Amino acid sequence: MTELELRGFRILPGYLDGARQAALVDGLRAVAAKAPLFTPMTPMGRAMSVRMTSAGRYGWVSGSSGYRYDAAHPGGGPWPDIPGGVLQIWRDLVSARRDPDCCLINYYGEGARMGLHQDRDEADFSWPVLSISLGDDGLLRVGNTARGGSTVSHWLRSGDVVVMGGDARLTYHGVDRIRFGSSSLLSGGGRINLTCRVVD
Ligand code: SIN
Ligand code: MN
Repeated sequence: MTELELRGFRILPGYLDGARQAALVDGLRAVAAKAPLFTPMTPMGRAMSVRMTSAGRYGWVSGSSGYRYDAAHPGGGPWPDIPGGVLQIWRDLVSARRDPDCCLINYYGEGARMGLHQDRDEADFSWPVLSISLGDDGLLRVGNTARGGSTVSHWLRSGDVVVMGGDARLTYHGVDRIRFGSSSLLSGGGRINLTCRVVD
């Protein structure tokens, strides 16, 4: 067992072949055409370095009122449907009984990162979070279910899928950096991470 598996992370390296990755990117471009990427602000008023949007019944938004799910894009209007290719991965790996309510789409351009955090804005932690990586390599850092303690790092590559359930569901995690330009999947470079969540 790897250190990450010991912490409950189920990693499926290269789960998606190149054709499936490219098809997902096409679907995500259509989502972003309807629900444009935006720069989220932390509750402290700082711009996050990732840009994000969502698909599904809910999108994840942040701002002076804190972190929450919202049925509307910050620009107004509902979020687009979750692309079928994303739903298929969820149904194959998580559940065919219940689809996710939200697919959060994070785009990491050059220099973008994400600090250690827990995913805890959902109502029911018995549902795992499904994470899909596309494009440039990203260095995932995984901590513990409480703040502090030792961490373990792992490079996520395009096509890798991670299921964060059980002990991993409330484990602190973040992305220290990306290797900009390491993948040719996205024409402009960068990394996309999708996280599918059951919200309520
Ligand atoms: C997240 O925690 O929302 C993103 C994780 C990742 O980019 O791999
Ligand atoms: Mn997260």
